[in-house]
Amino acid sequence: MALRPYIVGNWKMNGTRSMLAEARAIDRSAQRLMKVEVALAPPFTLIHAVHKEAEQIGVGAQDCSAELDGAFTGDVSAAMIADAGAKFVILGHSERRQGHGESDALIRAKTEAALAVGLKLIVCCGETEQTRDAGQAEQFVVDQLAASLPELLDGASERLSVAYEPIWAIGTGRTASVADVAAMHRAIRALLVDRYGDEEGGSVRILYGGSVKPDNARDLLGADEVGGALVGGASLTAESFLGIVMAAVDLQDA
Ligand code: PGA
Repeated sequence: MALRPYIVGNWKMNGTRSMLAEARAIDRSAQRLMKVEVALAPPFTLIHAVHKEAEQIGVGAQDCSAELDGAFTGDVSAAMIADAGAKFVILGHSERRQGHGESDALIRAKTEAALAVGLKLIVCCGETEQTRDAGQAEQFVVDQLAASLPELLDGASERLSVAYEPIWAIGTGRTASVADVAAMHRAIRALLVDRYGDEEGGSVRILYGGSVKPDNARDLLGADEVGGALVGGASLTAESFLGIVMAAVDLQDA
């Protein structure tokens, strides 16, 4: 059975305790919108507080270390975020890859650390504008993802999601065309089936991210093989985030 659409807010480096009211408002509405799975990834500092507020939504982190514990100043392990209440972690976001030099191999090591403590994963991938203009977007993304995903899922396919986020669409107000999103998601699906087999690879949700807003969400979520959205800027207020959740609900009802 297909999983519910998954709408995930990525607050990035935004949010202090004053934003807990937004999380609460999102959570209370999500209780009435059960056809969609809703989640938020606040900064590390708010994971526990959002977890305590949340009755319905999933709470996760935006990164974790590949290491178990030890002398790694400033890093946070998968077990620590789970202890704070996180149920999932976003890994391989382009802002980590580009801003912190994270390699595909490091991201794979992080996926394995997160799976080992029972977390769900959202593994991100996406091409630059230059790569797309050169006609190499699909090959680039498939190669990037192939090297970033965990080797085995061992029955954990419901715990893995992939997020396709073209870098040129993140925070820019530009989005990929519905046709390009569908083509990329089909290429990602083929990789997942090849790697994990028909059943496991066929059930992993593939989210689209990059300037998803209430007014474009319906078109993007309706594209072939799109199982949800990873939302940055528009997840910072309950009003705009719930507009995207509502678009997913409407599509379910259509
Ligand atoms: P955006 O960010 O919605 O602000 O473009 C998406 C993301 O980076 O996850």
